Amino acid sequence: MTRRVESSGAVMSFLHCTRSALNIWKMQSRVRIETSALLLQACSGCGFVRWKNTAANGGRSMDYQFSNSGWRQLVVGVLAGTGAVLVYGLHRQQVQQAEPKNTTELTSQTVSALGNEVKPTNSIYTRQDVAKHKTLADGVWVTYKTSVYDITKFVDLHPGGDKIMLAAGGAIEPFWAMYAVHNQEHVYSILEEYRIGELSPEDQKQATMDVDDPYGNEPLRHPVLKVNSLKPFNAEPPVELLSENYITPNEIFFKRNHLPVPEVDPKTYRLQVMGEGLKSIQLTLDDLKTKFPKHTITATLQCAGNRRSEMNAVRQVKGLNWGMAAIGNATWRGVKLSDVLKYAGLPENTNAKHVQFEGLDKDLTGIPYGASISIRKALAKDGDVLLAYEMNGEDLSRDHGFPLRVIVPGVVGARNVKWLSKIVVSKEESQSHWQVNDYKGFSPSVDWDTVDFSTAPAIQDLPIQSAITTPCNNDYISADNEEITVKGYAWSGGGQEVIRVDVSLDGGKTWKVADLTGEKQDAGQAWAWKLWQLTIPLPKGQKNLEIICKAVDNNYNVQPDTVAPIWNLRGVLNNSWSRVKVTIKPNSG
Ligand code: MTE
Repeated sequence: MTRRVESSGAVMSFLHCTRSALNIWKMQSRVRIETSALLLQACSGCGFVRWKNTAANGGRSMDYQFSNSGWRQLVVGVLAGTGAVLVYGLHRQQVQQAEPKNTTELTSQTVSALGNEVKPTNSIYTRQDVAKHKTLADGVWVTYKTSVYDITKFVDLHPGGDKIMLAAGGAIEPFWAMYAVHNQEHVYSILEEYRIGELSPEDQKQATMDVDDPYGNEPLRHPVLKVNSLKPFNAEPPVELLSENYITPNEIFFKRNHLPVPEVDPKTYRLQVMGEGLKSIQLTLDDLKTKFPKHTITATLQCAGNRRSEMNAVRQVKGLNWGMAAIGNATWRGVKLSDVLKYAGLPENTNAKHVQFEGLDKDLTGIPYGASISIRKALAKDGDVLLAYEMNGEDLSRDHGFPLRVIVPGVVGARNVKWLSKIVVSKEESQSHWQVNDYKGFSPSVDWDTVDFSTAPAIQDLPIQSAITTPCNNDYISADNEEITVKGYAWSGGGQEVIRVDVSLDGGKTWKVADLTGEKQDAGQAWAWKLWQLTIPLPKGQKNLEIICKAVDNNYNVQPDTVAPIWNLRGVLNNSWSRVKVTIKPNSG
């Protein structure tokens, strides 16, 4: 007789609650919440950014002029910043280890607008003084509220690269509003270390910048999601929910956004298609839904950073600390990219090598999220690349790319561009930061001083992957149980089919083969994951157990046993054996 894992009661009631919460959520989210329309318009040619929040701000709009005309060049390719917190943490440590301040020098006036203790200084500067300091040669100055900071020495330490130079010579508030990871106490403390004075009383009058929040119009999200970053929104479900459903419910499907979620009016939406040998055309949503055959595929989407936290535990990497649930499986419906390209006149013998995509989500300089895939994948009969407008039978939700996104099955999440606005057929790959300076793998010995992103290809097909979803790490299991049931997911990139999952309870000395479930898809087009399960006798007399799984695909690719040999500075592509440690509680009798 199979007896359950002791913790499974708790897990089951948790899952039950979660399911009920999901249902309530579904009902609630039918009530449309009308929030204000945030318009983020960026005029890249004139160095002028206008943020307008029409409703929340009572129709008020705010213009903010950049003082740095060369900012555009400065930001190209420097949007890495997601690991900011980690590196700031390191810097903070350095700051803390530095010589202690002579606190007797501090007076009540040396408390900044932030409430932190600050270096006493009588220096007064005008905005013009600050504006003269926008290069490393002249020094890099910024203002925050009424204070002036010389951050020249910090520029090199900035985890987001020289993106910080966007603020050089002016106020830092608009940039922190966009890259809201900065909104943390220790970041303010770091800034205080660089404080050199105050703005003149005249300039202080206009110093308080009431910057509209670019994230002021984000969609509602399911409360069960574990948030890795709020602005931009990045979240994953509790991992044990993943193996509950072969098709991941939309509400708990992981969400990976680099920028604010755009709000798109489906009536005015246009998809631009252009490039090598093509007529430039524009398609409405209706055109897409009526002029082309519809296709449906079930495909798994996985972020390159899935399981990054396990890589982080080995050696610190830069990036959001994803657990094992930055992956999900959905049914996508839309039209084939190849049909749309042919409709736009793509010649049979095209010289083009890449298909580039752009999203409607833009950074402060007006640069959109972008990525590209090979034309071979785009046109392959069995490539199944979709321009999808439905996810699991519903219109795409805003978080997942409404009204249209690319689904490139078998390929890393980053190329599955959401809020698709433009397709360009080209001899070149996308020059987007996320294509050329991110989402690439490197040798474990490459660090941030030696890395050269131009030496590695952009990740496309992902390697074989599997993970244990139940039990969870650090669960307790009663020794009364005779058996333990282990569950998980397994998937391989490039359409390779998972043919086997092996599970071990003794550190990999002996293995048992798990039962696989999932849709039957042909090898080469096996886009969807397999869920797996195995019930095995619980070893007697052990206090701790390490459960391991590894998957094998139809090309006999297997997962590497540890993280160290595949560690890389960006924390991508972690597909090492999944390991879960549980404690066995002694018999109740
Ligand atoms: N597309 C746009 N326009 N903007 C983005 O930030 N993120 C990418 C990709 N497409 C992204 C995007 C990344 S890194 C991933 S992993 C997937 O979307 C995540 O898709 P999801 O949020 O629907 O799960």
